[in-house]
Amino acid sequence: MVDKPSNTPEFPHPEQTSARLNPLPPLDPAGQKEQTPTTRPELPILVANGLVKNFGGIRAVDDATIEVAKGSITGLIGPNGAGKTTLFNLLSSFIRPDQGRVLFDGEQIQQLQSHQIAQMGMVRTFQVARVLSRLSVLENMLLATQHQTGEKFWNTWFKQKQIAQEERQQRERAMTILESIGLLHMAHEYAGALSGGQRKLLEMGRALMSNPKLILLDEPAAGVNPTLINQICDRILTWNREGMSFLVIEHNMDVVMSLCDRVWVLAEGRNLAAGTPAEIQANPQVLEAYLGQ
Ligand SMILES: Nc1ncnc2c1ncn2[C@@H]1O[C@H](COP(=O)(O)OP(=O)(O)OP(=O)(O)O)[C@@H](O)[C@H]1O
Ligand SMILES: [Mg+2]
Repeated sequence: MVDKPSNTPEFPHPEQTSARLNPLPPLDPAGQKEQTPTTRPELPILVANGLVKNFGGIRAVDDATIEVAKGSITGLIGPNGAGKTTLFNLLSSFIRPDQGRVLFDGEQIQQLQSHQIAQMGMVRTFQVARVLSRLSVLENMLLATQHQTGEKFWNTWFKQKQIAQEERQQRERAMTILESIGLLHMAHEYAGALSGGQRKLLEMGRALMSNPKLILLDEPAAGVNPTLINQICDRILTWNREGMSFLVIEHNMDVVMSLCDRVWVLAEGRNLAAGTPAEIQANPQVLEAYLGQ
């Protein structure tokens, strides 16, 4: 268990933050609600608070809070072993929290299965890319799609035309994404032939196949050469402009600074700071946490 340092800055409770973003309209003297403002800031796409996860005697995540604004690229940083990947596992229901709750797009999701969360529009990648080495790059992409008509036995008899059309569309989408991540020339190669960086790109490509609202990326730049890093950042910015939100764990500070609107810092499982990249860079407690590791 890690004690909260006495000088740890206080974090707004997500419910307080939501209330700030979307205040309840006060009653006027006649008991009528005030007119709802026409332009209201949007609610966050993801809010988690009070998350706790113990592994035996280790408290990997200790009362952690995080919030991802809709349409943002939000960063999650912290020293090795800070609990970042464990937090991702909790957010995406790969493991269950001991305490706490997660709201995605306004709905509580901590009781759902990870595939249900993916169907709602939140997908994630892994710190060590998980690709199926003995399938082609294209097959890896096609396996990532959800809700295909051909998955239901009877549909293979009665909806053959629809299935063929869906498969063609998925293939086209896969090829378009592969082109955008520079892997089109590898489409028919075994995924096992890809470099570490290319596997990371393929994982991102797979995540995009379902056209998600939010993608959680666990260290997209780790082990990737600088040219590919630039390409990955460009792609993330383009997808973000197209409306996708991101939560990105990353140790490469250049990547964090160039991508993120807001950054959350975790240390020993707890929130240490949150702010703009410039604020975080200038925060002495953050520097101390990194130097102390
Ligand atoms: N399945 C597990 N069983 C036991 N301990 C675990 C497990 N997963 C994580 N831990 C421990 O929880 C702590 C947080 O690990 P986590 O992988 O979440 O850190 P991280 O911030 O992602 O680190 P890194 O930057 O090195 O990837 C570490 O002490 C780790 O050893
Ligand atoms: Mg990690």
